[in-house]
Amino acid sequence: MACSTTYPMLFVLLIFPLHILAQTKFTIPLGSSLTANQETTPWLSHSGDFAFGFKQIQPQNQFLLCIYYAKIKDTTIIWYANDGYPVPRGSIVELNPQNGLILRDPQGKMIWSTSPIIASNVAYAVMNNTGNFVLVGSDSSVLWESFRYPTDTLLPTQILEIDDKLVSRKSEPTNFDYDSEYYIGHTSILRRSQLSYRLIFDELGLNILKRNNQRLLLTPPNVPSISENYHRLSLDFDGVLTHYYHPKSTTSTGNERWSTLWSLPDNICLAILGETGSGVCGYNNVCHLGENQRPYCVCPKGYSLTDPNNKYGNCKPKFIPSCDEFGKGNPEDLYDFDVVTDVDWPLSDFERIYPSAEEECRKACLEDCFCAVAIYRSNSCWKKKLPLSNGRVDTTLNVKAFLKIRKVST
Ligand SMILES: *[C@@H]1O[C@H](CO)[C@@H](O)[C@H](O)[C@H]1NC(C)=O
Repeated sequence: MACSTTYPMLFVLLIFPLHILAQTKFTIPLGSSLTANQETTPWLSHSGDFAFGFKQIQPQNQFLLCIYYAKIKDTTIIWYANDGYPVPRGSIVELNPQNGLILRDPQGKMIWSTSPIIASNVAYAVMNNTGNFVLVGSDSSVLWESFRYPTDTLLPTQILEIDDKLVSRKSEPTNFDYDSEYYIGHTSILRRSQLSYRLIFDELGLNILKRNNQRLLLTPPNVPSISENYHRLSLDFDGVLTHYYHPKSTTSTGNERWSTLWSLPDNICLAILGETGSGVCGYNNVCHLGENQRPYCVCPKGYSLTDPNNKYGNCKPKFIPSCDEFGKGNPEDLYDFDVVTDVDWPLSDFERIYPSAEEECRKACLEDCFCAVAIYRSNSCWKKKLPLSNGRVDTTLNVKAFLKIRKVST
């Protein structure tokens, strides 16, 4: 008799707290907040795959409010608030009915919020299993969703509307410095999408939906299973649009990593040519195409990185042509050239000589105190001034570059 009464009692006791937990854990009630520090527990999706919260980034004491994969070792951020600008330790994000999410600094000053786009009051928020952070109204309507405001990444089921764009970060995840003009919509896929209707990322991969409802599939066949792998399409900091996948389950080795399914464009070094700005690499730097169509940058001889920690950055010349120095002797005695083939800086010209022989080109640059580099190609000579931009290896042009260097004084 005693036993039969204890059983239902226990049952109630066990079920009740679990039920409350489920509610509070997977829907985020009004008034909930997160504080930027290492101890903060993010808001997780029901599946546990995605987290919304603060991630500490370099420099220390800086935190980024973002969505990231919660279960994988390799920190991968798929969306960020506040245009990717980090906030100091102690900043707080709060969910309130009028503004949705509000991010405040430790002094209480508002830094960012979802408010301008909220039409009615928020009832709760959800970190959805798809990776979409959603603000839901009391009538269950979606008032705001991170999927509508993509940053540098699209996830399966996400749609990029006409005029939407992905914007790459300037450098790898430790540095969220922004350069607003950098690579915006530069990849051909995004330009193509402007002419089309929508860019859809679904089980099949990436599609362009045209106005006539035809779909153009951009992904190669045999996409690794969506249920067993995470998929993402990211416009990386180097300007390459890449479809990555990563196994969801981890093995004992824990060696799972992101693999590339495909990427665009085939040669980013040649695809990007900015009238202003430095191109893929920094000023005076040269873009080379490496493995997996990823670019890497190498300063030319006679130049070195301005910031040794940023290989993609600017290169400073050891020698800057000076017209004052020029009158002091025979230029042949003062200067020489480092000659490199298949390297071009298509812009930065100040003079073109046509027709010109190679030796004539060399001499023209030597005797011009403004000339830092001469490019010789198909009977033409281009004199260039510093800083050089859009430097790239280009094997299609049969081009020769003459970089002016100072002779070591003897
Ligand atoms: C939330 O995720 C489910 C799949 O788990 C999906 O069917 C639904 O469309 C998503 N809702 C939103 C608003 O993203």
